[in-house]
Amino acid sequence: MAFTYFFRDLQTLEMIRDYVIPELRSRRYIHIWDAGCAMGPEPYTLAMVLRENMGMTFRNVRIHATDIDNSDLFGDIIKKGVYPREMVQRIPKPIFEKYFSPADEPDHYVIAEEIRKCVEFTRQNLLDLKPVRTGLNLVLCKNVLLHFKEQERVDVLKMFHDALDGGYLATEQTQKLPPELEGYFEPVVANAQLYRKVA
Ligand SMILES: C[S@@+](CC[C@H](N)C(=O)[O-])C[C@H]1O[C@@H](n2cnc3c(N)ncnc32)[C@H](O)[C@@H]1O
Repeated sequence: MAFTYFFRDLQTLEMIRDYVIPELRSRRYIHIWDAGCAMGPEPYTLAMVLRENMGMTFRNVRIHATDIDNSDLFGDIIKKGVYPREMVQRIPKPIFEKYFSPADEPDHYVIAEEIRKCVEFTRQNLLDLKPVRTGLNLVLCKNVLLHFKEQERVDVLKMFHDALDGGYLATEQTQKLPPELEGYFEPVVANAQLYRKVA
């Protein structure tokens, strides 16, 4: 099973709240790609943060969650939105109480339908270089690129650039963008892995 958890990267979530959400609020359609989403805690965390901060405009949000999914399990887990107690323990209590309820299975919790229905999962290999769609407002790709060779990383990042409609890219904290990407993205603030697409 892939390593992931709910509310994993608070710094990026705060930056999305402060820099990305204010721009998204005025949009009629909001398309987000979570590339390498594992079994769902990351796209669902993002969905809950967006719901908390966007009010009614949250209904315009679609999160396209993709993963190579070697286990062939992620799609079912994400669709059901049911997670064991140990996976939901880090979620801030007010968020947990608002968006989770006990599932049929003992010691499992199900995410509210409102959150579940904005996330759709597709099985996809990023190295095929086929974007999930174009006209994206935000691409989130965290703790995935580090598994790729240098040229693969460049190719995947260029694909993200082309698929974005002047929006944002969030990557893992440890990765600096390769020099080949100069002029493609600019950091939103220093020392954070949130970038704005340049032209
Ligand atoms: C460490 S997990 C990160 C999950 C989540 N993004 C996070 O940060 O919590 C890495 C994920 O990348 C996926 N992955 C690895 N290679 C991939 C590829 N070529 N295409 C799509 N997903 C891939 C794995 O299946 C795994 O779910």
